[in-house]
Amino acid sequence: MGELSRRNMLKAGGTLGALGALSIAAPAQAHSAWTWAAKGSVAGTGAGVDPRWVWDEEADPLVASVLDRGDVPRVNELLRTWTKNGQPLPAGLPADLRDFMERARRLPPWADQRKLATAVEFNKKRGLYLGVLYGLASGMMSTVIPKEARAVYYSQGGADMKDRISKTAKLGYDIGAHDAYQPDGEMIVTCVKTRLVHAAVRHLLPQSPRWSEVAEEEIPISQRDMMVTWHSLPTTVMQKLTAWKVPIPAAESGAFLHSWQLGAHMLGVKDEYIPASWAEADAQAEQVLTPVLAPTAEGVKLADILLSLGSSVDAGILSKPILGAFTRFLLGDQIAVWLKIPREPIWDPLLNTAWKPFVAVREGLLPFPLAPESYWLFDELLRKAALLFLSEARPISIEIPDSNRPS
Ligand code: HEM
Repeated sequence: MGELSRRNMLKAGGTLGALGALSIAAPAQAHSAWTWAAKGSVAGTGAGVDPRWVWDEEADPLVASVLDRGDVPRVNELLRTWTKNGQPLPAGLPADLRDFMERARRLPPWADQRKLATAVEFNKKRGLYLGVLYGLASGMMSTVIPKEARAVYYSQGGADMKDRISKTAKLGYDIGAHDAYQPDGEMIVTCVKTRLVHAAVRHLLPQSPRWSEVAEEEIPISQRDMMVTWHSLPTTVMQKLTAWKVPIPAAESGAFLHSWQLGAHMLGVKDEYIPASWAEADAQAEQVLTPVLAPTAEGVKLADILLSLGSSVDAGILSKPILGAFTRFLLGDQIAVWLKIPREPIWDPLLNTAWKPFVAVREGLLPFPLAPESYWLFDELLRKAALLFLSEARPISIEIPDSNRPS
């Protein structure tokens, strides 16, 4: 696709460009047709356009213009003070941006406060598992999602991964907080800011010669990509918890899904692409996530940085070999090989044999006296890992980038 068609698609803001783009780029995409039906979405209906050709028709042209006008530093400075969902937007924002943000911060009519209250219960009870799964299952999986790994690596934040990871972890923290979508919470703010960040990345990355050299797409972060990453988060987490036989009442599992459906909506994903149930989520993930997983040079580097994070928190226990073994355990041998994670003679077998009984003991499904010492070691590790991936993220401010990774 040439410069002209890319610009046209950006101008069209996605949906409209989608139909035209389908015919332009169809041959390259023939292997991954979009057949997931919108009737399984929270909207219950939709045009059926492959979200690969849909971006964010409202935010993209707006943020491109904010960038081109040189307004980003001023906007970032103002937005640093905007942290709580119920807080008014700071005075002094450009009028077009303010109007958009006022619309974007509104919850959709299908937001269900009762379900959100139940989600709080779930997050409270399962916080430890969630911390580890977000960090080591979702986080490490993102390094084998080629488009995401490359976008992250070549964008501004790719140069300081520790900072970037803590910003991304902020979303995992905010969505699990007791007041996530309430006026005192921060999830709406985090989502709206992230929506602006993604729109900026769509404008900036195509200008990066290094990204353009390796990327298979012309414009990053399509709605399909958004859902791929979404599935690496709640869908993967719920699949793991189910596989571990963690008992989760149906109302809590539905509530957890609801909090993430809302997250997707607030990040700018169209309702027709957001699965209405776990069964629909599993089916969509099978179609869009599983087939794209693959190693890239960028992903291997990012994974190495992620696995080295523990050493600054707890050099003795949360060291690289343990995080590596957890990754192999959670994501399997194939992904561990792709990420060049070495086998661990002590940790690999320990996780394989003792993890499920550990979960069972923790959940009260096995009698306490059966628990060997290693279970409490796991518990301690979980606490440390959860702290590392979630709690540390609290004071972080998400900012709109105005350049790519410096070469
Ligand atoms: C930024 C979350 C999908 C690429 C961010 C940030 C968050 C976030 C919280 C702000 C952190 C920061 O500024 O560093 C999410 C969630 C997603 C999603 C929850 C899906 C549900 C994607 C996808 C891609 C992507 C699909 C690429 C294919 C990026 C990039 C940045 C970013 C490049 C900016 C980093 C920078 O500042 O340079 N995302 N993201 N994200 N995201 Fe996403």
